[in-house]
Amino acid sequence: MSLLEASQVCKNFGGLAAVNKVDLVVEEGEIVGLIGPNGAGKSTLLNLIDGTLRVSSGRIVFRGHDITRYSPHRRARLGIARVFQKNALFRSMTVLENVLAGSYLRTDHGPLAALTRTLDKVRKDPGLLDRCHELLELVGLTDRTHELCVNLPHGSQRELCVAVALASNPTLLLLDEPLTGMNAEETASMIRIIKEINRTRGTTVLVVEHNVRAVLGLCARAVVLNYGQKLVEGSPRECVTDPAVIEAYLGTDADVA
Ligand SMILES: Nc1ncnc2c1ncn2[C@@H]1O[C@H](COP(=O)(O)OP(=O)(O)OP(=O)(O)O)[C@@H](O)[C@H]1O
Ligand SMILES: [Mg+2]
Repeated sequence: MSLLEASQVCKNFGGLAAVNKVDLVVEEGEIVGLIGPNGAGKSTLLNLIDGTLRVSSGRIVFRGHDITRYSPHRRARLGIARVFQKNALFRSMTVLENVLAGSYLRTDHGPLAALTRTLDKVRKDPGLLDRCHELLELVGLTDRTHELCVNLPHGSQRELCVAVALASNPTLLLLDEPLTGMNAEETASMIRIIKEINRTRGTTVLVVEHNVRAVLGLCARAVVLNYGQKLVEGSPRECVTDPAVIEAYLGTDADVA
C-alpha cells in the first residue's frame, strides 16, 4: 500500500481547472518533487492533499484511509503536515514558543489551547520541551531558541516553519517552495535539513520547488504539472530534459536545463 494515492483529482475555480484529473502516488520514505511553471496547480494540489481545499472530484487515500472528505485537522492527526509558500508563524512569539504551538496536534488540545495553555502542556508532558529542543537542533536554530520570531532572517524563519510542521510528528511533510528567497548558503542548509529529516525520522516529503537544481539533488522522483495536468513523471533528470517540460517552461524565468 502506498502512503498517498490521489486519483483523478480535480479542483475547479469557476471555469478554471486549477488541478485537472491528476493521479499522484507517493511511497513511504520518498522525497518527491512537484514542479511546473507559475500557476500550474502545485499549491492547489498541496491544498487538496492537506484539506485546505476540498476536491471538485477525485479521491485521496492516505495510509489506507479515504481522506477525501476529511477536515484539515483530521488529516493532520493522521500524519500530514504542511509548510506553506508564505511563512505562517506567530511573529511576536519566540522560536521555541512557535514550535510548542505546532505541537498541539500531538496533544489533545486545539490550536487556541496551544497558544494559551503552553505552560500547562509543558507541565503535563515533560518530554514535550525536549522534543521541541531536538527539532530546533535538527533545523539548526538552537542558538536562537529564545529570540522573537520576527527578528529572524528569512532563511531561519523558513527553517522554523519546518520545525513547527515537524512538531506534529507527521508521516508526510508537504513543503511549498521551501527555498524561495534564500541565498546560496541558506539554500544548501535547507536542502541538508530536508535530507536529514527524511533520513533520520523516515518522514516522507512532497516538495514543490522552482529551484530545479535543488530538486535534482534532493529527489529521486519528480512530477511535473502544467495547466493543472500531470505532464511528465520520472527521475528529475528525465523530467527536466523532456521536450514537453522544456516547452512548458519556455518564456518563464525558470532555468530547467
Ligand atoms: N482560491 C483560488 N481562487 C481562484 N483561483 C485560484 C485560487 N487558488 C489558485 N487559483 C488559480 O489556480 C491556478 C493554480 O494556482 P496555484 O497557486 O496552485 O499554482 P502554483 O503552481 O502553485 O503556482 P506558483 O508557482 O506561482 O506558486 C492559478 O491560475 C491560480 O490563479
Ligand atoms: Mg504555488
